[in-house]
Amino acid sequence: MATHPIRVFGDPVLKQRAAEVTDLDGKLAKLAQDMIDTMYGAPGAGLAAPQVGVQKRIFVYDAGAGARVIVNPAIVESDGEWTYEEGCLSVPGLYWHITRPKVVHLTGFDLEGNEVSIEADEFEARVFQHEMDHLNGTLLIERLDPDTRKQALRTLRNRDLALLDADGDVRPR
Ligand code: NI
Repeated sequence: MATHPIRVFGDPVLKQRAAEVTDLDGKLAKLAQDMIDTMYGAPGAGLAAPQVGVQKRIFVYDAGAGARVIVNPAIVESDGEWTYEEGCLSVPGLYWHITRPKVVHLTGFDLEGNEVSIEADEFEARVFQHEMDHLNGTLLIERLDPDTRKQALRTLRNRDLALLDADGDVRPR
């Protein structure tokens, strides 16, 4: 079992768009297993590669039916509205009620290159949208209404200072 430190708010890797995966090789499989270990160790319900500092379009999740890996995901359809108290391992300890589509249709690939097509509802749909955001360099803070976002950024800035080491770098958690 190998885990990675989870990058937290303030780390520029979380604001970049991750690149398409081009090689389904042993290295990617190892990354996926490490991501699953890291997700369970946190613990969390989902983890995207940028959160462990890897700029690739791959995420892992467990919405209650075991761990799965999705490579090069896309949300091809979404519908409805659902409000849920959402958190993020990269913004630890903070949760907000966020409204997003209730149902999504996710497509992508597994580690063997087989096509994956999942119609997801509520919690699973929320995880997919959250992890897709990570792959596009978006943190959940950007999903907040302007006033709540301002407040959240203030909280995080204060906390961010406490997370900086002597060189001014964000300490890995
Ligand atoms: Ni997250």
